[in-house]
Amino acid sequence: MWKIYTLTNKEFLPEYTLESKPDKKGSLSWQSPSNIALIKYWGKTGPQIPKNASVSFTLSNCHTTTRLFYKQKSPSAKKFDFKVFFEGKENTAFRPKIESFFKRIESYVPFVSSFEFEIHTKNSFPHSSGIASSASGMSALALCLMSLEKEIDRNMSSDHFFQKASFLARLGSGSAARSIKGPLVVWGSHPDIKGSNDAYGTVYPYEIDPVFSSFKDTILLVDQGVKQVSSTVGHNLMIDHPFAEARFKQAEENMTRLVPALQQGDLDAFIKIVEREALALHAMMMTSDPYFILMKPNTLKIIERIWDFRKRSGTPVCFTLDAGANVHVLYPQKDTEAADAFIQAELVSLCQENHYIKDQVGTGAVLL
Ligand code: PMV
Repeated sequence: MWKIYTLTNKEFLPEYTLESKPDKKGSLSWQSPSNIALIKYWGKTGPQIPKNASVSFTLSNCHTTTRLFYKQKSPSAKKFDFKVFFEGKENTAFRPKIESFFKRIESYVPFVSSFEFEIHTKNSFPHSSGIASSASGMSALALCLMSLEKEIDRNMSSDHFFQKASFLARLGSGSAARSIKGPLVVWGSHPDIKGSNDAYGTVYPYEIDPVFSSFKDTILLVDQGVKQVSSTVGHNLMIDHPFAEARFKQAEENMTRLVPALQQGDLDAFIKIVEREALALHAMMMTSDPYFILMKPNTLKIIERIWDFRKRSGTPVCFTLDAGANVHVLYPQKDTEAADAFIQAELVSLCQENHYIKDQVGTGAVLL
């Protein structure tokens, strides 16, 4: 079946004229969460259109705070006039990514070329912890831009505001589309998920057992170095991947299976789907051309210990992985005591410098 991709999402084109742009200057600030996918997005087409639908838990403690200072710029200044400050210091390494983000979103938020910006950003998680900051970073910046747009277009509805924020964030980094709301967000169209679409993330629309709205995620920092292969390269390697079509089908089926598991609080089914998704993601990396491995020996040791602990104790602890060596250990809030004792006794020593982050499912971004 052919899927039709529209290159322009007309509903997000501005209806105002730039005569009404806010003059003067000011600043806006948002705190945006990171997220961890349960059904993974790996493979895209066109302007960040995912090849399969994904769903993630929004996190709570891992977040980015961005303050956007804006000032009307002089007509002679360069097209996109901005400076980026990371944790208080000017950072030129982020410039190319933000510049190409501005280029991509300009037709949707044309005011970006009328202002001079200073973007001040910081993360709650340690720098180079191996936790991707692109999801929380891009969503925080997208939300700041939407708040600025709201000053121009004051009648904008709240639904439009958040949908467009997710839409813009997606154009910066695909998974950022899922970092606006919580506790579970779907991005990518799926026949079984009402309202799901490729343009922006939507809050998971069905009933979920309360066990999942307070799930815990302890992130074990196995390797805090810079990834050898970026996710952009990884997504592109899915284009000619021999297993690509089977993988996209598997992700779609896993999403279908996840719906009743979430509704019934079926932890056995949830664990099987989530762990299988994590390993399928890494299996794609290991079988692409060129192939690569992001897991480290301690990633595997942790997985084995989680399986062993689950078998002997019956505690529903499971893992998922991002595009890296770190392990997200997931468990219900009611099992915190047993799971935390296990993590302390058996897993922390496998982390780089014993570092880990305690997190849990969160409710989404906040305007500061
Ligand atoms: O948003 P990107 O382009 O960095 O891709 C992220 C992909 C994974 O984190 C590996 C999976 C996901 O769905 O978040």
